Amino acid sequence: MLILHIVFNYFAVRAVCLKTLNEPRFIQLIDTYLKKEIVASPCEINKREPIIFYQLGPMLLDLKICGFKIILGRSMTQTLKHSMKEVHLKKIKEIYRDKKYILFPNTSNRNMYIFFKDGSETDDILCAYFHAVLLSIIICAINDCQLPVFHNSNDVKSFAQVCKMLQSADWSRIPGKGSDFSYEPSYELLSYVHKIATKEWNNMRVFLIRTGWDLSKHLLMVDEWRVCDENLIPKETSLDNTEHMYTPDSISFDDFEENFNENEIELLTDFFQRT
Ligand SMILES: *[C@@H]1O[C@H](CO)[C@@H](O)[C@H](O)[C@H]1NC(C)=O
Repeated sequence: MLILHIVFNYFAVRAVCLKTLNEPRFIQLIDTYLKKEIVASPCEINKREPIIFYQLGPMLLDLKICGFKIILGRSMTQTLKHSMKEVHLKKIKEIYRDKKYILFPNTSNRNMYIFFKDGSETDDILCAYFHAVLLSIIICAINDCQLPVFHNSNDVKSFAQVCKMLQSADWSRIPGKGSDFSYEPSYELLSYVHKIATKEWNNMRVFLIRTGWDLSKHLLMVDEWRVCDENLIPKETSLDNTEHMYTPDSISFDDFEENFNENEIELLTDFFQRT
């Protein structure tokens, strides 16, 4: 019965070209885009969608393609708890200032969190996912972790070449805490990826629409938490937050040293030193 069910489902889905992006379709599109710089049409991607695998096992396409599991819409406060230095968080927030989301890679459990800000819409969610895939792949690159996307092109302008360049650039990474991955992305790298993701998403969006994708809605699985980020206040819409993880806004980067004791400063400089 299971087999029959799957077979019928298979043909049912094959019969139409689904034009809305779900995670498997979107990540395969991004994968093709990064490898070959082409945007596949809905029918091409639908043909490739390995429906049987999705029904029989957990989908780990993201882990396979970009080395991280992408998690959308969690609570930032609950996910990061107290494990994050506030100065670090402030810098991260600064990098994503003009976005409706914040990306946070955890290299120990290979989770790439996308925290959404209040008012994020379909385009922000799609852009965030695209950005998260790029950042994941690039973090794998700086850690010499092999992914299929690195092997696919000899073209000098390709994404694989960008990864190779970042891999050998020492501004791209800082030593991590010695887990699976030994390097964390530097702020310069996060800013750089932010820049290319913004530019590339603008390109890709145009091509997606031209090839017939419907970007007015999406089928990605997004949890409901939203960060109210306007003033860097850690208030979240789904959470009555009494515990504050960040200091008030009045502390700026210039004067933060005065506000920490010496041990803390040492830890911070260790963590943020470039190699
Ligand atoms: C990353 O994940 C590990 C393992 O789940 C956890 O112990 C750690 O606190 C996480 N790091 C951050 C900064 O959230």
